[in-house]
Amino acid sequence: MNLLSYFWLLTTIWSCLAVAPSRTISKRGSSSFVSSSKDGFSVNGSSLRFVGTNLYWLSTLESNDDIWNVLKNISDTGIKVVRIWAFNDVETIPETGTWFQLVQNGTTTINDGPNGLQKLDTVVQMAEQQGLYVILSLTNNWNPVPNTTSSSTASPDVLASVSIPRNTLSNDYGGMDLYVRQFGLQNHDDFYTNDSILTAFQNYTKQIVSRYFNSPAVFSWELANDARCNSTIPTSPTCTTQTVTQWHAVMAAFIASLDPNHIVSAGTSGFQCTDCPKLYPITPTASPTPSPAPGKKRRSVAPLTKEQIIRQRAESRRQNRAAAKRAGTLKEDGIMIRGRWVSTATREVSSSIGPTTDGSSGVDSQDILNIPNIGFGSFQVFPDQNTYAPNDPNLNTVQNKINSSLTWIQQSAQSAAAVGKPVVLNAFGLVTQSNLNSYVPFNLTYAPYASSTAVTGVTAAVLDATSTTDFADDTQQEQGYSSFLQMGNSAGLAGIMQYQVNTFLSRDVFD
Ligand SMILES: *[C@@H]1O[C@H](CO)[C@@H](O)[C@H](O)[C@H]1NC(C)=O
Ligand SMILES: *[C@@H]1O[C@H](CO)[C@@H](O)[C@H](O)[C@H]1NC(C)=O
Ligand SMILES: *[C@@H]1O[C@H](CO)[C@@H](O)[C@H](O)[C@H]1NC(C)=O
Ligand SMILES: *[C@@H]1O[C@H](CO)[C@@H](O)[C@H](O)[C@H]1NC(C)=O
Ligand SMILES: *[C@@H]1O[C@H](CO)[C@@H](O)[C@H](O)[C@H]1NC(C)=O
Ligand SMILES: *[C@@H]1O[C@H](CO)[C@@H](O)[C@H](O)[C@H]1NC(C)=O
Ligand SMILES: *[C@@H]1O[C@H](CO)[C@@H](O)[C@H](O)[C@H]1NC(C)=O
Ligand SMILES: *[C@@H]1O[C@H](CO)[C@@H](O)[C@H](O)[C@H]1NC(C)=O
Ligand SMILES: *[C@@H]1O[C@H](CO)[C@@H](O)[C@H](O)[C@H]1NC(C)=O
Repeated sequence: MNLLSYFWLLTTIWSCLAVAPSRTISKRGSSSFVSSSKDGFSVNGSSLRFVGTNLYWLSTLESNDDIWNVLKNISDTGIKVVRIWAFNDVETIPETGTWFQLVQNGTTTINDGPNGLQKLDTVVQMAEQQGLYVILSLTNNWNPVPNTTSSSTASPDVLASVSIPRNTLSNDYGGMDLYVRQFGLQNHDDFYTNDSILTAFQNYTKQIVSRYFNSPAVFSWELANDARCNSTIPTSPTCTTQTVTQWHAVMAAFIASLDPNHIVSAGTSGFQCTDCPKLYPITPTASPTPSPAPGKKRRSVAPLTKEQIIRQRAESRRQNRAAAKRAGTLKEDGIMIRGRWVSTATREVSSSIGPTTDGSSGVDSQDILNIPNIGFGSFQVFPDQNTYAPNDPNLNTVQNKINSSLTWIQQSAQSAAAVGKPVVLNAFGLVTQSNLNSYVPFNLTYAPYASSTAVTGVTAAVLDATSTTDFADDTQQEQGYSSFLQMGNSAGLAGIMQYQVNTFLSRDVFD
């Protein structure tokens, strides 16, 4: 099944499962701009729950016809929202191709010519004409540069070897680290804390926002893709989740002051920190107020806790163990000590909650979601490059990826419900055995599994995979996507967006 027909299925299932449009018409919800509330999104007084896709490259297509046809095809499948990069920063002006902003030696210059922001204008206009919405992302956490010191024969760098055109990879559009480099600084988190960079980024943001603040096609201003303390350049030891939250608060207030029409969203990958100090703590609903009238009681959802994560993980393992026992395939966690097998099952589950929720990813998406000017939350599902839960020995690797993703969807939905705002799965993907060779993770410039990759040691180090069967086959991918969708629906997500529909230019480099 190709991706488009898959998407037909996806949008069909989603619309069957989706709730009926809300009849309540609030003043804000009746606007022709999308608004968000604890009940979800609305536009013109109707609720809006959507299937979407990521087309970060859309404004780099050569001709307007190409842009139109891609949007047309997308729209024909029932997709309502496309998420695209509204940035394209360069360090030197390229000979060909689209670029939006030159960031060089501490100064910035906008390109508003035909190969510059006029391309983005076209995308927004055409989306509007076709009744589509665009989530416009303003920068990226990731912008790795190729390692040019490695010898050419050993180099697997797809960017250094110019084996693919500029802007093919989502991490090749500039972003935070490009500002850091060109402002003569060293650490990734300088992007969040340095005033000169903040001024330059706000300057860029202002020019973009003022171009489209009147367009009903803009779904939201997304502050950054995947923001966090760490990147491929170092971060300083002073960067905490609060550093990243504070930056989002400053930027969200800045955009809100320029544009009262549109939602500001965060764009983080959803990682949280259950036990970190919060800049925007969730205040429990004050108890002295009289209880609401019967039937009006608002379901209050508790924030995710470490205890809950550990408890649920143990319960899931118990069930999988019981199932494996019945099937006669029971495997236990364990280690060999002096030739004897020692079970670590109980200790392992109780040890730590892992990088998705312990703050070690340097971002607390729940704290960011509770910033007053942030309208909805987002998270991503990429189990090939993130570990959402430790492996359960009674599931194979692909099952572990899918199961942990399902838990992650539930956890992300719960956190957003505790804050009282909608949440969108803004990108999901499973790498398959058939696209493994061209798969480039967002923090790399090379395809670690490409058969031409001479640096074989990299494979295990980067992705901890030992064989191709650790990746989904096409059937497992389809089943996985279908289970993400079902779980997303039952968990109450306000939107779900695949990464990405490759309808055009056979962009088979999957990152
Ligand atoms: C909302 O209403 C406006 C004005 O009537 C209309 O132009 C627009 O197409 C509507 N939008 C949607 C999504 O229905
Ligand atoms: C749009 O879809 C048609 C029919 O599937 C296909 O032939 C065409 O190549 C697609 N165009 C683009 C730009 O994706
Ligand atoms: C960078 O800018 C500084 C002043 O801000 C200037 O002294 C220096 O010559 C510039 N370097 C380059 C390579 O243009
Ligand atoms: C703001 O952007 C404009 C247009 O690119 C540029 O001329 C100006 O130098 C920028 N200002 C700052 C402070 O970056
Ligand atoms: C670049 O490649 C060389 C040779 O393969 C290696 O020694 C070096 O550590 C790499 N540098 C980075 C920043 O990855
Ligand atoms: C911000 O970066 C500039 C270099 O671009 C530097 O001169 C300035 O001191 C930095 N500001 C702070 C507060 O560190
Ligand atoms: C890239 O991301 C993977 C998965 O998160 C991680 O294991 C690896 O250390 C990262 N590599 C770099 C160079 O940042
Ligand atoms: C884990 O995955 C297996 C097989 O894919 C499924 O049967 C099982 O219900 C899942 N368990 C949980 C707790 O999601
Ligand atoms: C993030 O960077 C800090 C400081 O360099 C480092 O100690 C930490 O291990 C990094 N975390 C991750 C998840 O890479």
